[in-house]
Amino acid sequence: MTGAQNPPRRQGSTDDPRSPKVEGKTIQDLLGGRREPDPPLAPLIGNVQQRAHLDLGGTWRVLVDPLDRGERSIFGGGGLGSDHAPESPGEVVEHDFGDAYEIKVPGDWNTQHPELRWYRGVCWYRREFDFSAPQDNRLFLYLGGANHHARIWLNGTLVAAHRGGFTPFNVEVSDQLVEGKNVIVAKVNSLTRDIDIPTERNDWQNYGGLTREVLLVEVPGVFVRNCHIQLARASARRVEGWVDVDGAAPGTTVTVEIPDAGLRFETETDGSGRAPVGFEAELELWTPESPVLHRVDVRVADDHFEEEIGFRQIETRGNEILLNGEPIFLRGIAMHEESIRHPGRAYGPDDAAASLSLIKELNCNFVRLAHYPHNEYMVRAAERSGLLIWSEIPVYHDIAFENPETLASAKQQINEMIERDRNRAAIAFWSIGNETMPSDARNHFMQELAEEVRRADRTRLVTAALLSIEGMQGAAAHVGARLRGDSPEPVRTVISDPLGEFVDVIGYNQYLGWYAPTFLARGMGASEEQVREAVLDSVDEFELDTAFQKPVIVSETGGAARQGVHGERLDAWSEELQAAIYETEVAALVDRKGSPVRGLSPWILKDFRSPMRLNSRMQSYWNRKGIVSPEGERKQAFFVLQRHYAEHAERTRR
Ligand code: GCU
Repeated sequence: MTGAQNPPRRQGSTDDPRSPKVEGKTIQDLLGGRREPDPPLAPLIGNVQQRAHLDLGGTWRVLVDPLDRGERSIFGGGGLGSDHAPESPGEVVEHDFGDAYEIKVPGDWNTQHPELRWYRGVCWYRREFDFSAPQDNRLFLYLGGANHHARIWLNGTLVAAHRGGFTPFNVEVSDQLVEGKNVIVAKVNSLTRDIDIPTERNDWQNYGGLTREVLLVEVPGVFVRNCHIQLARASARRVEGWVDVDGAAPGTTVTVEIPDAGLRFETETDGSGRAPVGFEAELELWTPESPVLHRVDVRVADDHFEEEIGFRQIETRGNEILLNGEPIFLRGIAMHEESIRHPGRAYGPDDAAASLSLIKELNCNFVRLAHYPHNEYMVRAAERSGLLIWSEIPVYHDIAFENPETLASAKQQINEMIERDRNRAAIAFWSIGNETMPSDARNHFMQELAEEVRRADRTRLVTAALLSIEGMQGAAAHVGARLRGDSPEPVRTVISDPLGEFVDVIGYNQYLGWYAPTFLARGMGASEEQVREAVLDSVDEFELDTAFQKPVIVSETGGAARQGVHGERLDAWSEELQAAIYETEVAALVDRKGSPVRGLSPWILKDFRSPMRLNSRMQSYWNRKGIVSPEGERKQAFFVLQRHYAEHAERTRR
């Protein structure tokens, strides 16, 4: 055999004959250098909150592992995952959770200890729990979200691994659990790599940790894993979908009932456990004004799976977005997954309720959950309170579009996002990304993602938020002419980014009143105030159009202000300037006659943490584009938007 075929043996590796051996083990083996491969996950279980479960939330012990060394241990067998404890006073074990940090789960670690404020890297979580095995039932470990790369051990066995901080995963652990005391150890690395989704360069705080629920879910031997039951496309009466059963023999009977409509439908599983669903029904439809949810009972063998489903049609026709066949204008707001109730990542029903009450106070019928899938409590609560939802995967800045692993990660996150929320009627838009720079590699990548969404779900619309390059050019010419004292023609900006071809609805981030003057002033030899004034006074002369005859949602617009800072109309960071931008640029976008702009979600509901915001007096690591402060105090712009949305709601009341 020639050398060329066999790569050189790595010094110290087991099969390197030169490596000194102790009892047949190399130093590498003794140091526990070999990383166990990621074990496979189980298909995602839907609506786990209605399943019998043990909530493993609470206080966990946490060790910080800045060098990511914990998977190997010095001399003492296996790494932290093995949870090896000294068996005799003389045994040296170089890890122990006894005096480690106490960190709450769900929650991020950054806001729970000042030393961890900026920590990005590996932390090891450990907790014990008592358990007694139920007769015949199966147990799944379910994590709602662990940012960013998680590896989970149960009683010393690596049972799960997952990349992606904002989507759930689960695995069956029936065989790993023991009667009595059990130990779960979770390694969470919040650092992302350049090939990951997202990368590290984000205008939001990378909160690390077990940021969402950790549950031990109990199900019967044969159980409903998930279902998808919704109106068929372009039909207000035909209900279609499927039920996925785990553990059933082909031909197993499944029943679907909608008690409040007196409906009962019987079907059976095929070889893969899927049972098709299809029937006619006269159901009261879900709308923002009347967010009706119907209880849907799915039964198979001894299992009863319950879901609350709203039935609605969402589609486009030319430049229109149609809800249940009627054109709708989306009065929205964008938000990050932070709470006004406490610092850090939002994770629970109370956080959702607090944000939703502000959003309803604004007279919204739409919310953009940016830039990643938010927790399930938020999505379900928004649905119950009559808000249409834009849900997104974090394909954001600096994505490695040519890397197959990056594409695979994006597709994985799309499928996990859809699988968790596929029965949420309120979710109208799956967004495949935000502000990605046009290039052949990017266009190809995004086309793949759009097709992946359509493969997984044909009952919703695909969108993405585009950068407003064209808008800047149009504004420059117009403002330049105005400053020279001319009266220029209105500007018609035609969105022509090739990504517009692959989506159903075009998202467009536009900051004419905030960023544009900063850029334009430099090239015009005019002051930023002069340019900003010219822009704000001419917003009615800016028209948006697309090269695709598709509806547009202005997915970001607005400006920043530090709450409590006051000044002249054009003073940067003042509430007056932010309010002026809302009174002009934002108001001009609300349901303009003949415009393809069929909705907007100004950036953003609440000031949010960002490592990019270095103005220590005005920002101090907060992005200040919120219309409420971090604690929820309303800025002037809040009332401006509230008024314009109230007038629109009045004008268009159904
Ligand atoms: C961008 C981006 C946001 C960012 C915002 C801003 O458009 O999508 O994530 O926070 O602008 O600059 O405030």
